Amino acid sequence: MEGVIDALTRALLTELGGFDWSVTEFVRVTDARLPPRVFQRICPELEGDSRTPGGTPVYLQLLGAQPDKLGENALVAANLGAPVIDMNFGCPAKTVNRHDGGAALLRTPERVYRAVQGVHEALKGTGVPVTAKLRLGFEDKTLALECARAAEDGGAQRLVVHARTRREGYRPPAHWEWVGRIREQASVPVVVNGDIWTLEDYWRAREASGCQDVMLGRAALADPWLAKRIRHWQLTGERLPDTRWQDRSALLTAYVSRIDPALPSRVVVSLLKQWLNIMRQHDGEAGEHFQRLRRITALEDFMTALQEEAPSSGSDASTPL
Ligand SMILES: Cc1cc2nc3c(=O)[nH]c(=O)nc-3n(C[C@H](O)[C@H](O)[C@H](O)COP(=O)(O)O)c2cc1C
Repeated sequence: MEGVIDALTRALLTELGGFDWSVTEFVRVTDARLPPRVFQRICPELEGDSRTPGGTPVYLQLLGAQPDKLGENALVAANLGAPVIDMNFGCPAKTVNRHDGGAALLRTPERVYRAVQGVHEALKGTGVPVTAKLRLGFEDKTLALECARAAEDGGAQRLVVHARTRREGYRPPAHWEWVGRIREQASVPVVVNGDIWTLEDYWRAREASGCQDVMLGRAALADPWLAKRIRHWQLTGERLPDTRWQDRSALLTAYVSRIDPALPSRVVVSLLKQWLNIMRQHDGEAGEHFQRLRRITALEDFMTALQEEAPSSGSDASTPL
């Protein structure tokens, strides 16, 4: 996820377990063949075996529209060791869409087809497959099935579908049942994505879509143990306990201990707040801690405060008598 999940975050999250694979932030392709360092910056794992330290494969995502340039760049990435090239047809950002990328292509299924086919053709003989990440449409869902079919016809070997149109942004609800319609027509695996924040959401998304597999976006950060709890539930039918604040704060501490020491400390603080801000979206306790920490600007103070317990709600221990 652009700007929020990088190699360090991937390493920390996948060490906790439950993830089958992960995907990089998108590499934007316009009209140039990009140098290897661009791919290596987005995906430092390429310098090893394109896996996180915990062993989870990392797929490389491309965003663009020109079939030949996408193909050329896909080949560069494949030669660098990317195990799968994923194509982004979901990004809703105005600047990206204005420049003909991401969800903008969903207005014309033929362009989805050509973009995927450009990559598929270029990768022939490398053994590296292409997959596609789609939304349900740009303005509305009328082309949802056609776009999914176009991606498959172009050669996509798996589809991940964020169950909303570009217009719907990130507003709930996610329309998981629409992903079910795509799954029914598809002959490649379809993965449902969007608004899966809890075990119950996982179950409802599966039921509504009929998909075996789900992709976690924001919830991978909001509740870093959710993937592991899902996997445990799949395997045993048992529910692991909810994630505790102590675990979240320990993870944030581990993040700081492994972050690039060259980063200015104010940047580290803002990255921590960004993560905490996502954590608080579905967890009241993380919300309390966010309120407590949000005004702290010095890293050392932030880390000290992070270890402290929040005053429990209803307690008046801090109120002078
Ligand atoms: C900040 C942010 C950055 C994202 N960047 C990407 C990206 O680079 N590639 C991509 O395929 N999806 C990206 N997404 C979309 C997510 O992968 C996912 O489809 C979407 O957030 C819905 O799933 P969720 O409700 O589980 O978060 C991004 C989402 C957010 C919020």
